[in-house]
Amino acid sequence: MTLPNADAEKARWTASADLWDRWADPMAELADKLNQPLLDAAGVRPGAVVLDLASGAGEPALSAARRAGAEGFVLGTDLVPAMLAGAVRRAAAAEPRPAFAAADMTALPFGAGAFDAVTCRFGIMFVPDAVGALTEVRRVLKPGGRAAFMVWGPRAENALFAAVGGAVEDRLGPDPVHGIGPLFRYAEPGSLAADLARAGFAEAAETALTPTRKAPRGQPFWRATLDMLFGARIADLDARERAALEADIAARFDALAQDDTVPLPAHVRIGVGVA
Ligand SMILES: C[S@@+](CC[C@H](N)C(=O)[O-])C[C@H]1O[C@@H](n2cnc3c(N)ncnc32)[C@H](O)[C@@H]1O
Repeated sequence: MTLPNADAEKARWTASADLWDRWADPMAELADKLNQPLLDAAGVRPGAVVLDLASGAGEPALSAARRAGAEGFVLGTDLVPAMLAGAVRRAAAAEPRPAFAAADMTALPFGAGAFDAVTCRFGIMFVPDAVGALTEVRRVLKPGGRAAFMVWGPRAENALFAAVGGAVEDRLGPDPVHGIGPLFRYAEPGSLAADLARAGFAEAAETALTPTRKAPRGQPFWRATLDMLFGARIADLDARERAALEADIAARFDALAQDDTVPLPAHVRIGVGVA
């Protein structure tokens, strides 16, 4: 398991913020579909007061605000203010509109029992002291409130990461600091539920989702993944090197194609803690 480093994570997300903002709108429909089971797991319903952690460019805070409705309130937070700039931009057109504020999930600036529900999509794995963060989450939840965390299952079961990450690493070598190792910190079934239990949640459980998206063959559907996860790392490649990398990625997906589509299996896990 690759554990994250706090300074490296802050630098990674600060450097990636513009690319995350650029891809957020084209990915919004896909993101909203993925957000729904996370909101279900956290028990987000109309009128709920919800804290979203590590919101990045606004996911799932924007979906949560739609579900909580005018009677509810959603606060999206992130360690990196540059990441939240995209969320604030997107929220300007949203109704109901979530609020956003910078916050480190290991030291939440909120009182005990302030929230009905907490959500976090693809964020907890990047926090070195994850149990410390989960303990903070339990503190800010009302008794009986739910926190739900979406994490990635094994890299080999996530076709986009396997192919794009494989091509980047084959060309540039593994990167222990800025590589995607931390994404798979909770890939082992039960490992997230175990940390929720360590943080003192009264109940802790985990479920797996294994959807397969069909992408159009021959299209650069993989570019969002390349930009968002490796954009900072490949920024210094010259045009020839970048073209060679992209050709390698395209060839890997072409090898997986069935007729006109490329099946993209994914494995995500949702961990739920009841305070
Ligand atoms: C993979 S992005 C996920 C963004 C968004 N939730 C999504 O699913 O599109 C990970 C986010 O975690 C944030 N993050 C990392 N460490 C954090 C911490 N200690 N507290 C709050 N956010 C953190 C990063 O700044 C980054 O925006």
